[in-house]
Amino acid sequence: MDKLQITGGRPLRGEVEVSGAKNAALPCLCASLLTADAVTLENVPQLNDIGTTLRLLRQLGVKAERASQPGDRVVLEASRVESLEAPYELVKTMRASILVLGPLVARFGEARVSLPGGCAIGQRPIDQHIKGLAAMGAEISIEHGFVVARAKRLKGATIRTDMITVTGTENLLMAAVLADGLTVLENAAREPEIVDLAEMLIKMGARISGHGTDRIVIEGVSRLHGTTHRVMPDRIEAGTFLCAVGAAGGEIVLRNADPASMGATLDKLAEAGLAIECGTDWVQAGMNGRPRAVGFRTLEYPGFATDMQAQLMALNAIAEGTAVITETIFENRYMHVQELRRLGADIEIDGHTAVVKGVAGLSGATVMATDLRASASLVIAGLVADGQTTIDRIYHLDRGYEQMERKLLQLGADIRRVGGSGGQAR
Ligand code: EPU
Repeated sequence: MDKLQITGGRPLRGEVEVSGAKNAALPCLCASLLTADAVTLENVPQLNDIGTTLRLLRQLGVKAERASQPGDRVVLEASRVESLEAPYELVKTMRASILVLGPLVARFGEARVSLPGGCAIGQRPIDQHIKGLAAMGAEISIEHGFVVARAKRLKGATIRTDMITVTGTENLLMAAVLADGLTVLENAAREPEIVDLAEMLIKMGARISGHGTDRIVIEGVSRLHGTTHRVMPDRIEAGTFLCAVGAAGGEIVLRNADPASMGATLDKLAEAGLAIECGTDWVQAGMNGRPRAVGFRTLEYPGFATDMQAQLMALNAIAEGTAVITETIFENRYMHVQELRRLGADIEIDGHTAVVKGVAGLSGATVMATDLRASASLVIAGLVADGQTTIDRIYHLDRGYEQMERKLLQLGADIRRVGGSGGQAR
């Protein structure tokens, strides 16, 4: 199993390319199921979660090929879908597999998706996906560990989810584009990744308005056609690099970024003392000395993203002052705390709240990654810590960060991958 070894204490300097957004690419790949025509996606990052999704789509019968040149392009064609089932083996490794449920039932009248089961960051049920499809007339049953949805043709409906759910909104959006009549999604998620998916669907012939607001209106059509779509830049990867320079010091420029989608992160980092400048597709950030502690609450977009919580906590661990952090989206997303403590951080947890008292320095140790964003926070801490930090189980990192160590090397970090395969995803 691969590990990362980081020797901390070097500032980060230079330029780095931001990859395409994992959480936009996943629904866009699944949207290819909605048409028999070819769909081309560009800016698709090479990550383990993308590899898992491509495997799932191929199992269903979709032709899905990553181009060798340029490697960020994936061509998909769902003209011969033979299976309507997402098996446990794939769903258990990646919950986002649930994103095939909406498109399959909308186009083929049936879908069987294994129930995801437990998850490291919280319970994460899929009841709202099910509630929405049922409101559109699907018959839903749980059979042998699978959620099975059947509908001759889905019917438009007004659906108000009990809470704001990102993949829930995406699933219902993909189901509604081929439904008969008008669907209104109320209390919809407003994340930029949803806007990206909606824009792709519109290019395929879908009639959608209100994406980016909490009320999305969809007028169903009988068929969609192929398209070419460029996946938006990854705002979480970009924010992770910014936290890294905030903690380690130095000055970096992010290329192919989308600062317009990063407002809450940029505000907090400016509050922490980073000097930040943005253009339409770049961000420049510099940090001199120690950052100031910044408290925050995670919220749905446009609030501060839960996917940035662990990384900004790592910055707070070495900041001047005390930060109070509240996680409101997932109930168990503090597993990085005990690992950060092993590096010398002073963090107390009380329910959903973490109190981080900044310390003058961290000291390198062996730590274990527990989930994707937790891994990223340990990398940031390792870049600052005195001596060597070894991060075990970095397959979590490979699920969602493309070439993290190569990019950090390019910025001057002392980081290397050891053991195991040494490689990254398809
Ligand atoms: N929820 C329910 N029932 C549902 C759906 C959600 O109770 O049917 C709850 C969840 O348990 C959670 C809250 O609602 O407490 C919000 O969950 P949401 O459905 O929005 O999360 P998700 O769609 O499963 C996506 C991202 C996550 C990100 C969250 C929140 C993808 C593939 N995943 O998950 O990304 O943390 O939204 O922004 O888009 C990551 O990239 O590291 C990651 C975990």
